[in-house]
Amino acid sequence: MTSILARARLVIGALMLLFVIAMAPPVSAQQPTSVNPTASSVNEDKLLEQMKIISGRGTIPDAKSYNIEQPEGRNWEQFRRVNLPWFGAIIILGVLAVLVIFYLARGMVKIEGGRSGRTVIRFNEFERAVHWMTASCFVILAISGLNITFGRALLLPLLGLDAFSAVSQWGKYAHNYLSFPFTIGTVLIFLMWIGGNIPSKVDTEWLKRGGGMIGNDHPPAGHFNAGQKVIYWIVIIGGTAMAITGYLLMFPFYGTGIAGMQLAQIVHGLVAVLFVAAMLGHIYIGTIGMEGAFEGMGTGTVDVNWAKQHHSLWLEEQKAQASEGMSRSAAATAAE
Ligand code: HEM
Repeated sequence: MTSILARARLVIGALMLLFVIAMAPPVSAQQPTSVNPTASSVNEDKLLEQMKIISGRGTIPDAKSYNIEQPEGRNWEQFRRVNLPWFGAIIILGVLAVLVIFYLARGMVKIEGGRSGRTVIRFNEFERAVHWMTASCFVILAISGLNITFGRALLLPLLGLDAFSAVSQWGKYAHNYLSFPFTIGTVLIFLMWIGGNIPSKVDTEWLKRGGGMIGNDHPPAGHFNAGQKVIYWIVIIGGTAMAITGYLLMFPFYGTGIAGMQLAQIVHGLVAVLFVAAMLGHIYIGTIGMEGAFEGMGTGTVDVNWAKQHHSLWLEEQKAQASEGMSRSAAATAAE
């Protein structure tokens, strides 16, 4: 009798279990339908707004690594991934387009009346060595820097993962190490040409007459005209800004927090783009834009007619110094 009762209890229990399972709603139906699926991220956003920073716990000594999220991080990422590439592309391609249009419309500025065949010394060996050392560092810094901003979009699809990462790694080494000679070059340029680059009244007249780039006007200029003075100060101020922000990025968290690092990166990126655009203009004038200009930095001498046309006041100074030197040596010879 007891065993019959026990069996009946077992059967009833099993049937009840089956009934409960059969009546249970499917898993998906257990989710309350009124809940917004993005609610957790909304909460996270509110939390972030209130707390400004969301931090976890950690065991390593670097407490900065416990920060999980902060709104500034998102703004910075937006700048780095979207705003900077757009700004950079518009400025650099814009300047290139203007130069191409200018060249097609104006052509090379020729030496009027041709070359005289007589030359005058424009830059000594030290000046040229400093210029080309700084310029070659700048070109490699610019290309490797542009790769950081545009490489993933432009080069990665062309080169593939392995080649792109090798190129980028070498580019980064070059970028880090060449920053030192570039900084030294900027300091030397500052010291060796500051004398010729103080703004003066002559510059106002030169600027009013558009530097003689339009038409056949030749406003007088000293060793450096107003346009070159602008380039000089762009190099000095831009180079200093690039060096300070670059070293802050190269030696992270020495004297800066996260916000300081982000600001350094933003300034570094913006100044870099403007600097490259300005140097494109400089390279244009120094090569295909003006006949006879490259020689000054190439061989160190320029044609006298070129100097008369573009730096008449400087040529007068050179002539005066030469005749003063000649009369001094003549006087010395007569006294002997
Ligand atoms: C890479 C291509 C470059 C070329 C072909 C070039 C060419 C020249 C030439 C021909 C001059 C002498 C102009 C004259 O006799 O009046 C000059 C001057 C100068 N260069 Fe360059 N340069 C280049 C890159 C650079 C770079 C990258 C920098 C600095 C980052 C720079 C800074 C200067 C400065 C400060 C002057 C004196 C001011 C001036 O003439 O504008 N150059 N360059």
